[in-house]
Amino acid sequence: MNDGGQRQFGPLGKVLVIIPTYNEVENIKPIVDRVRTAVPDADILVADDNSPDGTGKAADEIAAADDQVHVLHRKGKEGLGAAYLAGFAWGSEHGYGVLVEMDADGSHQPEELPRLLTALKGADLVLGSRWVPGGRVVNWPKSREVISRGGSLYSRLALGLSVRDVTGGYRAFRTETLNGLGLGEVASQGYCFQVDLARRAVEAGYHVVEVPITFVDREIGDSKMSRDILVEALWRVTGWGITSRANKVLGRKTL
Ligand code: GDD
Ligand code: MN
Repeated sequence: MNDGGQRQFGPLGKVLVIIPTYNEVENIKPIVDRVRTAVPDADILVADDNSPDGTGKAADEIAAADDQVHVLHRKGKEGLGAAYLAGFAWGSEHGYGVLVEMDADGSHQPEELPRLLTALKGADLVLGSRWVPGGRVVNWPKSREVISRGGSLYSRLALGLSVRDVTGGYRAFRTETLNGLGLGEVASQGYCFQVDLARRAVEAGYHVVEVPITFVDREIGDSKMSRDILVEALWRVTGWGITSRANKVLGRKTL
């Protein structure tokens, strides 16, 4: 991981918080309200995959009453990765300097966002991290914690990354950083999307900083974590690991 050295970082510019949603009708209003209160200058983009429970319509109603809230309606459930890629493209086209990833279910506390943004003043990418000193998880079932810690450890070992929370989904990117990650080639659909972006940022030499967060498990609605998502993560991470090692052996650059 690049240490940032003597580099000068430019001003952040306007902030867009992207919230992907699939069946979050009860969570959407509370999370938008919390973001608006915690970071009043930031705009919000809800990226909804045509949720059967009407989340998209609920988001439209909020947006109709608040100029700083926008909604991106997607045609169907295509995974977290695709929703974020569409959100990043929208944010980049609309001139935002910072694009934030945040879950809709309250696991990522908006009240912690100012700390992430402060860290981004001296970084290219800030990762909200559960697995650095000061970071923690609240109310997570043991089984889920084991999968997450195991997933982070496996990804770190397979990819040779020093980042501790490789799978986390609470992040602040400079738009410039995202533009340098080759997003056009990202095929990851599920949660391995997060691993994919982290490894690309590290390999591209960006200054990546981890900031401790308290991840609070959702109280309302269900996680979209599934067997398919885990299987996709396992085969993709393994494939990236083999490719990057082979490239090192052959003296080629990865990506
Ligand atoms: N638009 C869209 N499309 N949104 C989706 C989709 C999808 O296919 N799948 C999930 N989401 C949204 C959810 O509605 C929620 O707002 C957010 O993405 C995260 O989904 P959860 O189902 O709550 O994820 P999780 O709590 O199991 O996992 C979290 O932690 C993982 C690391 O342990 C997420 O932050 C993951 O990104 C992260 O990898
Ligand atoms: Mn969640």
